[in-house]
Amino acid sequence: MKRDAWPLQPPVPVLRVSGLAKAFTLHLRGGLRLPVLHGVALEVRAGECVALVGRSGSGKSTLMKCLHGSYGIDAGEVRLHGGTGPVNLAQASVQQVLALRRRDIAYVSQFLRAPPRVSAIDVVAERVLQSEPAAPLDDALDADDARVDAARAQAGALLQRLNLPESLWSLPPATFSGGEQQRVNIARGLVVPARLLLLDEPTASLDATNRQVVIRLIHEAKAGGTAVVGIFHDEEVRDAVATRCIELQRALK
Ligand SMILES: Nc1ncnc2c1ncn2[C@@H]1O[C@H](COP(=O)(O)OP(=O)(O)OP(=O)(O)O)[C@@H](O)[C@H]1O
Ligand SMILES: [Mg+2]
Repeated sequence: MKRDAWPLQPPVPVLRVSGLAKAFTLHLRGGLRLPVLHGVALEVRAGECVALVGRSGSGKSTLMKCLHGSYGIDAGEVRLHGGTGPVNLAQASVQQVLALRRRDIAYVSQFLRAPPRVSAIDVVAERVLQSEPAAPLDDALDADDARVDAARAQAGALLQRLNLPESLWSLPPATFSGGEQQRVNIARGLVVPARLLLLDEPTASLDATNRQVVIRLIHEAKAGGTAVVGIFHDEEVRDAVATRCIELQRALK
């Protein structure tokens, strides 16, 4: 199917959420239901950054996971205008969600979950390779090598901007410091332009210099037409990048 022209024109929201409700069922507690989100509505257009605010436990990270398709929802719609047209994540198949995550949705979780034994540069380069249309079967092997080299070059350029020492690039990030892991995570999320970028506390473990780098990267993503939804406890970062804030309140029943 033909991909839409991108960035989308301003009147078309990249993300439109309406009537979203989410409760957790605690099976080990006799099926106790824990309502968290109720009646959540939001729209995010290309180039906007919406910050989710609210008290601890109000459901910010839960909403983020609903937008990423990792949590199902109990009611409402999460409509994403992806490259092949609008998709309601609440009703999408697993294959559709995986395809959206390869091309359209980027998610920077609070903590890096890197596969063991994969080097930092390949954790990032893998994202570039996943986002590309599959290579034709008759591609020569050296063409594949060229793709890998190009993806690593793109990954390295971003890790450099994020001041991750080159001596760490060939090592798996499992033993990295919190801030180093977070920079690998950010690089993985931002190395390919996405329509929707989800950021859960992307600067929580970063020093002032790297916070500024991340602020610049978010500005660049917005300028490129990405719609951003973020949780930023750091008010300086939030003020620098957010177009507006949405306050979440814990559902009462
Ligand atoms: N997988 C889960 N199973 C059961 N309850 C959960 C689950 N995930 C989150 N919760 C509950 O949902 C509520 C909202 O959690 P969430 O992590 O979304 O809050 P938050 O707004 O991100 O808070 P914080 O600012 O502290 O990160 C909390 O009470 C939490 O205990
Ligand atoms: Mg949270």
